[in-house]
Amino acid sequence: MHHNPIYLAVDVPRLDAAEALARKVKEHVGGLKLGLEFFCAHGHHGVHEMAKLGLPIFLDLKLHDIPNTVAAAMQSLHVLEPAIVTVHASGGRAMMEDAKAAAGENCKVVAVTVLTSLDERDLARAGVSGTPHDQALRLAELAEAAGLDGIVCSGHEVAAIHRQWRNGFFVVPGLRPATGTEGNGDQKRTVTPREARDGGASVLVIGRPISRADDPVAAVRAIEATL
Ligand code: C5P
Repeated sequence: MHHNPIYLAVDVPRLDAAEALARKVKEHVGGLKLGLEFFCAHGHHGVHEMAKLGLPIFLDLKLHDIPNTVAAAMQSLHVLEPAIVTVHASGGRAMMEDAKAAAGENCKVVAVTVLTSLDERDLARAGVSGTPHDQALRLAELAEAAGLDGIVCSGHEVAAIHRQWRNGFFVVPGLRPATGTEGNGDQKRTVTPREARDGGASVLVIGRPISRADDPVAAVRAIEATL
């Protein structure tokens, strides 16, 4: 069986509900993404419980602190054997280098560049000039130079970043499956899982299109079939 790039974003507040959802779809996803919300609520215990399902675990903790602190945090995660951990590229080169050096051998460290909640005005207020897109490309270069495995990026920019970082590992969230209907013309431009994959995505992070579907298994199977 070929490697399944779909990681289920388990953004469900209750641990029992998170486990039930993951158990339902586990044959159809390549891994589970657990975010800061999950980790703050359920900690190592929650991660261990989810890991019992046997899927790779992606800890989306977006670490950002002085290099020594981030390295120590990475070391404290070894026992959980995560497949992927995120840090903020804006923490700087030394922080990323130390995070990678402290990560487990089989743990990919990927950098968040610019949060999609920030626009050009927000960046300007924080003293950063230029567009979020330019800043994301700059931070992607910094992440590569620091020896990270890859970055988190949107489906809109993955193809461009893949062209400049051929062997990078690219995690793409914010995806929406094609509905097959013509009724969403007024929605914001979205990227489908297939388009992201074709653009060079290594991991497709998908949450609500699966978790909020009436039939999560049917939803994830339909996505799988498009890849
Ligand atoms: O929208 P959906 O539920 O599929 O989001 C899946 C995950 O991707 C969530 O954990 C969300 O935090 C993350 N995400 C992100 N950046 C975006 C959109 C979603 O990191 N632009």
